[in-house]
Amino acid sequence: MYKLKIISSTVRPGRKGSIISHWITNLAQEKGNFEVELLDLGEINLPLMNEPVHPMMRQYEHEHTKQWSAKIEEADAFIFVTAEYDYSYPASLKNALEYLVHEWAYKPAGIVSYSIGPFAGVRAASSLKGDLLSLRTISLAEAVNIPAVNQFIGEDGLFTPNEQLTKAATVMLTQLLRWTKGLKAIKEDNL
Ligand SMILES: Cc1cc2nc3c(=O)[nH]c(=O)nc-3n(C[C@H](O)[C@H](O)[C@H](O)COP(=O)(O)O)c2cc1C
Repeated sequence: MYKLKIISSTVRPGRKGSIISHWITNLAQEKGNFEVELLDLGEINLPLMNEPVHPMMRQYEHEHTKQWSAKIEEADAFIFVTAEYDYSYPASLKNALEYLVHEWAYKPAGIVSYSIGPFAGVRAASSLKGDLLSLRTISLAEAVNIPAVNQFIGEDGLFTPNEQLTKAATVMLTQLLRWTKGLKAIKEDNL
């Protein structure tokens, strides 16, 4: 079965990112097309990029990099769950991306963005898409963008989506499987 890594990007105490990441993780598991693992950057706790050698060379000195590399290497597809911080995606995610190069390549990515206001984190998603392309990670046109995120989080701390969000997530997961199959062929066709 294809391996899907869901990357929860924000790291601050009390982050909403974990709540949303659990929702999309459960949905992906229910759909059953992927072996799903949630990678919460708030728990993984990578320091600011501190490898002496360019990641193109894969000569990792630190244990945290070796572990991060192994997790991303085994992935066939990603979902990035991202908030919008100052009109872009959080520095914690940029840092996690910068640690590696080859491990990200020729794999598709769905994006789930959210924000406290009406814009649903679309500016963060847009910036992320551009940066992913430089790593040869292909982001899907189908995405989930959650506006006014607090309206979907109950006192129980659970995320309860509306019909529109559930549909967007389901469509994205279906397309993710399709792109995973396609990009797997491209990745293995080592010219
Ligand atoms: C450092 C910081 C910057 C933010 N910048 C934006 C922003 O540019 N646009 C926006 O709509 N919301 C912004 N917000 C509000 C976030 O949408 C909201 O706090 C969200 O819950 C953040 O995700 P998190 O809870 O997972 O950290 C910002 C929040 C923080 C903490």
